Amino acid sequence: MADKKNILITGGAGFIGSHVIRLFVNSYPDYQIYNLDSLTYAGNLENLKDLEGKQNYTFIKADITDQDLMHRVFNENGITDVIHLAAESHVDRSIADPTAFIYTNVIGTVNLLNAARKQWEGKLDQHLFYHVSTDEVYGSLDNGGYFLETTPYDPQSPYSASKASSDHFVRAFANTYKLRTVISNCSNNYGPNQFPEKLIPLCIHNIKHNKPLPVYGKGENVRDWLFVIDHARAIDVVFHKGKDNETYNIGGFNEWKNIDIVRTLCKVMDKKMGRPEGESEKLITFVKDRAGHDLRYAIDANKIMKELGWEPSLQFEEGLEKTVDWYLANEEWLQRVTSGAYQDYYDKQYS
Ligand code: NAD
Ligand code: TYD
Repeated sequence: MADKKNILITGGAGFIGSHVIRLFVNSYPDYQIYNLDSLTYAGNLENLKDLEGKQNYTFIKADITDQDLMHRVFNENGITDVIHLAAESHVDRSIADPTAFIYTNVIGTVNLLNAARKQWEGKLDQHLFYHVSTDEVYGSLDNGGYFLETTPYDPQSPYSASKASSDHFVRAFANTYKLRTVISNCSNNYGPNQFPEKLIPLCIHNIKHNKPLPVYGKGENVRDWLFVIDHARAIDVVFHKGKDNETYNIGGFNEWKNIDIVRTLCKVMDKKMGRPEGESEKLITFVKDRAGHDLRYAIDANKIMKELGWEPSLQFEEGLEKTVDWYLANEEWLQRVTSGAYQDYYDKQYS
């Protein structure tokens, strides 16, 4: 039986966080799971409707940039462990407005580290601060090689610079104050509940509504894609079995050029929507490249696979089909998140 723990999971109303919350609430009835989220444009409690009323689940609406509030949350709920996902997460938004990324990703992370250190004083060895990060901190690869846990940091966008900074603070707290920490750096996720500003859900949404599919540059940039539930499973494994103060890279050994993903999505959507083959591809539109666009990300996930026994459960084609099915079955969800604030942002980005 698992020990009793009061785990604070931040960013649980977002894409990856909601899958992590669901996995922990359902798998560990002896854990109390506190989902702390400020509900930005990317946070949506509808993602967790199925957990409402569960005894071991509590939602706390709070902003991690508020230091005093973080101290209170730790103290009032007797927080024993943290899995920190809350972040500003979209590269294009970070190019438009880097400052928000510094507040949430850097200052917010330091606020949580401070609150944990204070709450766990005198018994630091009994508690864990797990920081969820990204492969983008390693920079951009040419056509060869992989990111290893030992690859030097070389962030290239305001988003990845803010995540790299937060990773450094986590390691600095481990070294300086002896906080027990662990960090994982994952590749691009896809799956249900992803906000439709990211490539895959944006294309699904646009294909459905016969809108142009904006491919940056020539579509030659490469990303390594992992199904979100496989990332949540990896987080579970790292939380329970990861070694103190280690880093684990998480990825699917699944590299795709953007243009190939978009073409594959078009084929899947043509079939699902009963359109003639080739119809949706006509929507592909090459647009101005992203500023400073990283060419290629590729994770070497051998460490987590060999040391902790994790491996991806889904092939990409299967995951992509599940994802398309989810978006087609959840039109209302899409409609609600694509109205209002998201629409304003969308107009600015693609006008
Ligand atoms: P997301 O944008 O979907 O969700 C982020 C969540 O954080 C939202 O619910 C939002 O409301 C919340 N949040 C933002 N600012 C906050 C604040 N100041 N206080 C409290 N809550 C706040 O992001 P995601 O894609 O689910 O990513 C989650 C984490 O995983 C991030 O740390 C991200 O860097 C990391 N990551 C993401 C990917 C990916 O492909 N999406 C890959 C690797 C790592
Ligand atoms: P994205 O989903 O924003 O993730 P990240 O930038 O964190 O990798 O983008 C994935 C890739 O798709 C990236 O190379 C940028 C590209 N892209 C487009 O070509 N068009 C788009 O409209 C978006 C949002 C992304």
